[in-house]
Amino acid sequence: MLDIKELTVEVEDREILHDINLTIRTGETHVLFGPNGSGKTTLIMTIMGFPKYKVTKGSILFQGKDITGLTLDERARLGIGMSFQRPPVVRGVKTRDMVTACLKGQDGEAVTQMAEKADLADFLERDINYGFSGGELKRSELMQLMAQKPELALLDEPESGVDLVNIVLIGQLINELLEKDCPISMRKCMGLIITHTGHILDYVNARTGYVLCEGRIGCEGDPHEILATIKEKGYGECIRCIIGRRLLR
Ligand SMILES: Nc1ncnc2c1ncn2[C@@H]1O[C@H](COP(=O)(O)OP(=O)(O)OP(=O)(O)O)[C@@H](O)[C@H]1O
Ligand SMILES: [Mg+2]
Repeated sequence: MLDIKELTVEVEDREILHDINLTIRTGETHVLFGPNGSGKTTLIMTIMGFPKYKVTKGSILFQGKDITGLTLDERARLGIGMSFQRPPVVRGVKTRDMVTACLKGQDGEAVTQMAEKADLADFLERDINYGFSGGELKRSELMQLMAQKPELALLDEPESGVDLVNIVLIGQLINELLEKDCPISMRKCMGLIITHTGHILDYVNARTGYVLCEGRIGCEGDPHEILATIKEKGYGECIRCIIGRRLLR
């Protein structure tokens, strides 16, 4: 289980997230919506443990352990993995070597199978993400994440910039990663997905959606309903809801 309590985060001395509470149980997939600049990526980077994101209040518990003070690699070893909104290029490291490392020593055949699944068999000898197109980057991220077999998968806009055909492939990969076709009690992975378009909702059993506005969680509820409301009315209501709640306190 991931349990985030009153999480407050600063980046470059500016408070970006304020008092975030969020709980995801094993097997569940939750979805984060919110306007540009509201702090969605900041939340994912903070859960992953990037040092630039300073927790000034609150805590992050993962599988019952307080991980707030752990380093990024310690969190990765515990089973937390992410796919970047804007994946970094790693010059001098072949994609094959990264996938092999993520597969923890499985043979070359397993690497090839993983690459074929992501339609990236011809990309294994290229440096990680170097010169990849927008859609290729997103598939490369998912391939590496799937190889890692995380217990918590943090997906930052996995479908942005992906064409309509490849969205189906991305959706299938995420479906497999988050074990959609497994009964929830049998699943080992939980997910937190950031999306603007909601296309990905067709491929996952998303349980709960949240709207993050100005670094605070506005509403929480059925992700399909939230998406329909945002499409119809924009984020105005979410901001009014946050202000209303603050006045009530
Ligand atoms: N290193 C930084 N220095 C200063 N401000 C930063 C830094 N990183 C993030 N921010 C600010 O934090 C705020 C939240 O950014 P974040 O990337 O989390 O937004 P987001 O909700 O993911 O937006 P988008 O939908 O556009 O991806 C933004 O105003 C951003 O400019
Ligand atoms: Mg973002």
